[in-house]
Amino acid sequence: MAGGPVRIGLLGRGTVGGAFEQLVAERAEMVEAATGRRPEIVGALRRSEGSFEQVVSESELLVELIGGLDPARDWVTRALRAGVHVVTANKQLITQHGDELLEAAREGGAQLRFEAAVAGAIPIIRVIQESLGAIEIERVSGIVNGTTNFILTEMARTGASYDDALAQAQTAGYAEADPSEDVSGADAAAKMAILARLAFGTAVQLDQVPYEGIEQIRPEDLAYAKELGLSLKLLGIAERNSEGVGVRVFPCFLYPGHPLAPVEGAFNAVTVEAPQITEITMSGPGAGGPETASAVLGDVVSVISGGAPLPGPTEELAVVGDPSSAFYLHLEVADRPGVLAQVADVLGRNEVSVRSVVQQGLGEDARLVMVMHEGPESRFFQALEQIAELEFLRGPPRSIRVIEEEFT
Ligand SMILES: NC(=O)c1ccc[n+]([C@@H]2O[C@H](COP(=O)([O-])OP(=O)(O)OC[C@H]3O[C@@H](n4cnc5c(N)ncnc54)[C@H](OP(=O)(O)O)[C@@H]3O)[C@@H](O)[C@H]2O)c1
Repeated sequence: MAGGPVRIGLLGRGTVGGAFEQLVAERAEMVEAATGRRPEIVGALRRSEGSFEQVVSESELLVELIGGLDPARDWVTRALRAGVHVVTANKQLITQHGDELLEAAREGGAQLRFEAAVAGAIPIIRVIQESLGAIEIERVSGIVNGTTNFILTEMARTGASYDDALAQAQTAGYAEADPSEDVSGADAAAKMAILARLAFGTAVQLDQVPYEGIEQIRPEDLAYAKELGLSLKLLGIAERNSEGVGVRVFPCFLYPGHPLAPVEGAFNAVTVEAPQITEITMSGPGAGGPETASAVLGDVVSVISGGAPLPGPTEELAVVGDPSSAFYLHLEVADRPGVLAQVADVLGRNEVSVRSVVQQGLGEDARLVMVMHEGPESRFFQALEQIAELEFLRGPPRSIRVIEEEFT
């Protein structure tokens, strides 16, 4: 970029846009000292103020903080084609139109950066792209939705029901009035699609990321997990093996030695695994005006410093067909001899091996809580169908995935 102040056009002056304006005012001198150029907001717009044409004509870098697809997609594309760099926090825009925007950036010779779209203040994109750019990443696991982590933490801490913990998250400002994007896992799926694309160089589309949410989680799942020393998280996992790449989001139990197990409340965290590094984990606030604005300003600094534009996908995605997982299984059963043996027999016939068993209660309250070793999911689900048919079951079986890895 040329000398003199960096002329920034700001699209959106809401929670993040407002915090960004304040941060630029506070940190402009420091940025100038580090990069040789002072960031200056030369134009800004909101619904009731300013015009896009005016702002873009005065800017060499646009910061897009209006959110949504329309008009953000059109404005960002036009800016990039005209050679104006863009920094955005818009996860939806990148997930759904990332390829075409990167193409527009190439055409215009501009940079497109979106660190704040994934895990708020955590600079995970920069780490994957730059610091770990020379190694072959095998897996990226993330708690990338603070709302669901807050809800699960409260359920585990206080024994609250899902509905009560959600209400608490709404009161505390961590969940929106309509929380469905967060609690269904859709928000995490979009973020994992972005991380997978960067970690593996493949074009991952949103409809290639199966996701499950936390709406079905019950306090007793968390209570039993505690007894087994496990903690429950909504995890996104993107992994590569010899078959291809798999990206999924699901609630799962973690053993205490997993680096994401202690991440609580509204925090986000991402673990990157590769043979050369074992694992690197970063955690921090996943949302909030000042937190997100700090990631946006970090991207502005990268653009000013002349970092290379982010590369587009280099490989076609080959989706892993039958992923491998370990499972927790919770069965309400009649208290009578031979129950455990029959369940074990069904599991054995389907080649599912058991890691631990807790048998509890007497009479009407008898239950069996088991944790399986990792194996193909299709085998476990086949066994589950057969277990559901056993006549001594007093309710439908409940199963939740378990991540077996521990690094300590
Ligand atoms: N909030 C967070 O913690 C957070 C965290 C990570 C990422 N993000 C992302 O950051 C972006 C901004 O989020 P936010 O929370 O700051 O949103 P927000 O508080 O709703 O602010 C949006 C701003 O954009 C303006 N705007 C919206 N549509 C517009 C249009 N069609 N034309 C002109 N201006 C328009 C609004 O104008 P008015 O002021 O006139 O309404 C407002 O100033 C989103 O992509 C979001 O996903 C947010």
